[in-house]
Parts: sequence; C-alpha cells; structure tokens
Amino acid sequence: MKTWIKSTFAAGLAVAILGAGVTTIQPALADGAKDAQQLAANHGKKMNKKMGAVEARKASMRAISKANKAMKAAAKAGNTQLVVSAAMIVVKQADRMPRMFPKGTSRKALGAKATRSKAAIWKNWKKFIAANDNMKAAALAVAAAARNGNAKAGMKGIGKTCGGCHKPFRGKKAKKS
Ligand code: HEC
Repeated sequence: MKTWIKSTFAAGLAVAILGAGVTTIQPALADGAKDAQQLAANHGKKMNKKMGAVEARKASMRAISKANKAMKAAAKAGNTQLVVSAAMIVVKQADRMPRMFPKGTSRKALGAKATRSKAAIWKNWKKFIAANDNMKAAALAVAAAARNGNAKAGMKGIGKTCGGCHKPFRGKKAKKS
C-alpha cells in the first residue's frame, strides 16, 4: 500500500485515540481496514488505482471530519493539547489532499455512485487547491491559538472552509437504486 494511503488510515486511528477521551467516535482504523479490503474485492486491476485514490480521499475526509468533531469537543472541555493534535491532523490531511485527486477520477469519469467529486475540480484546479489551503490555514490558526492557551479561537473558521470547497466541488449524494 502506498505510504500516503497508509498514513491516512494512521491519521484516522490517531483521531480515534485522541477522540476517545473527548467524544464518542467510531474507531477509525476499522474504517481504513474495511476500505482496503473493499478496494481489493470491488475493483478490477485497471480500476484499482483510480478507485484507490477515491477511497483514500474519502477516508481522509472522514478523518478530517472526526478530527473536526474531536477538536470542537476538546475546545469545549478547554483541553488545548487535544485541540492542537486534532487541528494538526486536519493540516496533515490537507497536505495530502492534492495527490488524492488524480486526473480521471471525477464523477463524470467514474460514475455518480463511485465518487461525488465534480469534474469542476480539475477544470478549476487552482481554486480547488486554494479551498484546501484555506482549510489548512484555518486549522493552523486554531492550533496556534490553542498553543497560546486559547482553546476556542477560530473554531467556526474551519467549519466554513468545508463548505467553501463542498459547495462548488462536491456533487449531491447518489440516489439509492
Ligand atoms: C478542498 C476541498 C475540500 C475541503 C476543504 C473539504 N472537503 Fe470534504 N469533500 C471534498 C470532496 C471533493 C468530497 C467528495 C469526495 C469523493 O466522493 O470523491 C468530500 C467528501 C467529504 C465527506 C464524505 C466522505 C465519504 O466517506 O464519502 C466528508 C464527511 C467530508 N468531506 C467532510 C469534510 C469536513 C468536515 C471538512 C472541513 C473540516 C471538509 N470535508 C473539507 C472536498 C473538500
């Protein structure tokens, strides 16, 4: 398995551990293991690489989402150390994000059920990267504030950056057949 995929799963585990004391979140490692197994079972060799990237980015998004929740809970509890750890997970995932969106993995190319990533991502790559950078900057700001003893500063800022990317670049959920 590629290292960046592995580290995505590792990040999920870190969130699970850090979240355990703060909030009830599912162990993310199980999530990652399931993804890897499903990947092997669901896709032929040719599609493996593309679908591998899709599944990795979904796992990464779930890790971001869990870290975001753990961060909020830690902020509420005034635990600055946990806020920093959670924020840095978001930062790490943001750094990996561009590699998880290789060309040819849009919804248009792979189908509505495979991915919600719109073709607009690759048409507006710079804007997409900017949206990712915004999330990273917001997470870094939260971590910096928490290191200075303010557990709650900048929390809402991160949430806004999720929508800033999802709105233009993520399509609607696929209809269940
Ligand atoms: C740079 C763009 C971008 C940013 C920033 C971003 N997302 Fe996403 N997110 C996406 C895209 C694109 C998808 C669809 C992935 C796919 O299906 O291929 C997605 C999917 C998701 C999913 C569904 C994962 C799954 O299992 O299918 C969750 C949950 C999620 N994002 C949470 C978040 C949260 C929480 C934040 C902010 C803290 C965030 N995202 C920030 C682009 C982004």
